[in-house]
Amino acid sequence: MKKDVIIACDFASPEATYAFLDNFKDEKPFIKIGMELFYAGGPEIVRELRRRGHKIFLDLKLHDIPNTVRKAMKVLSSLDVDMVNVHAAGTIEMMRAALEGLQEGRPDGSRPLIIAVTQLTSTSEKALHEQLLIPESINDTIIRYAANAREAGLDGVVCSPLEAAIVKEACGQEFLTVTPGIRYPDAAKDDQSRITSPARAREIGSDFIVVGRPITAAEDPVAAYRRCCADFLGK
Ligand code: C5P
Repeated sequence: MKKDVIIACDFASPEATYAFLDNFKDEKPFIKIGMELFYAGGPEIVRELRRRGHKIFLDLKLHDIPNTVRKAMKVLSSLDVDMVNVHAAGTIEMMRAALEGLQEGRPDGSRPLIIAVTQLTSTSEKALHEQLLIPESINDTIIRYAANAREAGLDGVVCSPLEAAIVKEACGQEFLTVTPGIRYPDAAKDDQSRITSPARAREIGSDFIVVGRPITAAEDPVAAYRRCCADFLGK
């Protein structure tokens, strides 16, 4: 799948999501549905957005025993989404089971892309050491978890744009990096700290950027989306 801008539709209800997407008359953006919206709208919102022609990244970050994840992924794959994810902390065995489930979910042999969350950006090094009892640095765990995801056969990882280059170095250029934390220098950072502009994310080698509030909270969301596409995709 080619590089793209993914809009994080972090809305509380299907109605708010449809109202936002109705702004887009000439394009069908790739969108991300997270836990809040999926738990509010259920599989029906996924079906409706597919009917409307959007590509969908279903960001549910599965993390459970391999058998449970395999069966859950079979269901998600049958919803015809384009991208799903798991926590790499669930182990290589769990990630392999996730991949199997995705393949089982579609009779035509296709499957969604599957990427792993390495370390959540909300996890500090202090919490890693003191609460999770992991003595390594955050960066070392990110690289190891990304390598585990690659060994399991996954397509890539979610990481900050600032980590995309080290992930590519460790796992190969074809290993996908999906990067949130996108902001323009002239706009609000909100609660994001490790941020990068769309143009810089392109230079670093991100494959997909995930952009929420800079588009969803913009006065003109369509113009904001087009600006991101122009800067990230160079068109
Ligand atoms: O509004 P904003 O552009 O900050 O939205 C970024 C999106 O990416 C949100 O849906 C957020 O949950 C998600 N995300 C993130 N940082 C991560 C993983 C996911 O911001 N490490």
